[in-house]
Amino acid sequence: MQNKLIKLVAKSARHSKNQIVGAVRPTSYLKDLSKQQVGTGKTVLITGASSGLGEGMARLFASLGYNLAICARRTDRLEHLKSEMMDKYPDIRVEYQALDVSDYDTVFQVFDAFADDFGSIERVVVNAGIGDSRRIGKGHFETNRRTADVNFVAALAQCEAAMNIFRAQNNGHLVVISSMSAMRGLPRHLTTYGASKAGLAHLAEGIRADMLLTNLPIKVSTIYPGYIRTEINEGSKPLPFEVDTDTGTKAIVAAIEAGVDEACVPSLPWSMVSHAMKHLPLQVMNKLS
Ligand SMILES: NC(=O)c1ccc[n+]([C@@H]2O[C@H](COP(=O)([O-])OP(=O)(O)OC[C@H]3O[C@@H](n4cnc5c(N)ncnc54)[C@H](OP(=O)(O)O)[C@@H]3O)[C@@H](O)[C@H]2O)c1
Repeated sequence: MQNKLIKLVAKSARHSKNQIVGAVRPTSYLKDLSKQQVGTGKTVLITGASSGLGEGMARLFASLGYNLAICARRTDRLEHLKSEMMDKYPDIRVEYQALDVSDYDTVFQVFDAFADDFGSIERVVVNAGIGDSRRIGKGHFETNRRTADVNFVAALAQCEAAMNIFRAQNNGHLVVISSMSAMRGLPRHLTTYGASKAGLAHLAEGIRADMLLTNLPIKVSTIYPGYIRTEINEGSKPLPFEVDTDTGTKAIVAAIEAGVDEACVPSLPWSMVSHAMKHLPLQVMNKLS
């Protein structure tokens, strides 16, 4: 009994050490994982892999030895990424499929086709998203509905499709890319975007709770990125604490590899900002957003 307890404590200490190293020193943590080629024989499926964070994550997972199952609408970019990764990492497999995530039936077809093709999918990253919501009550319902659809309902379809596969395999790691904007209700153009990302974070937490209840060995991670310069914010003025795509994706992949339940990335300053965001009066929040 005592031995069991000691083992349990040691295991959780190792786990939290990974989380800390992964969160605070992503570059050295990933270098170490790359040396170990931790992804060998495993496949990660990423939606929205044609640019920005999805493309950056694909590159990093390939460097860790993972096979890639990538999708998006712009297949010319996926083809280019595939040939670049195959040249650089000849030992991995890279396959791509055209996918508009708001075409829900196709989400299930594409995910299942990848699972058949690779034999198993160890991780799915629900990443595809758009950021062009508009102020509420100004005649932009269609734009806001589309944002809610792609970022939440289509993400629900991706979670359903991924969990079908993971339940059948009896293992898997579901990762959702939420946003720091999920922490509070936000004004102006961020209202629907933030609400869709808060919905996605709640959805992931509910699935995580369900896995605890049913004791299934399926992990669920929710990532809350701060501002990372990609096509989603192209042309916008300098954003608070913004980082480049490389820095941002390293922080995201390190958190995913560390197996966190939830992580604000990059950890500094966003894990501290998240506490402030949850408690500041709305008038102060308005000045920061
Ligand atoms: N960058 C940031 O500061 C930041 C912060 C917090 C959260 N995020 C989240 O991170 C995720 C990735 O964004 P990003 O910054 O990398 O922006 P990005 O460069 O614009 O990438 C968005 C990706 O989503 C895909 N996508 C958009 N609509 C799609 C659809 N209907 N069907 C399939 N794929 C679709 C795009 O591919 P196609 O156009 O080729 O289909 C693209 O690959 C998003 O969920 C975003 O909300 C970003």
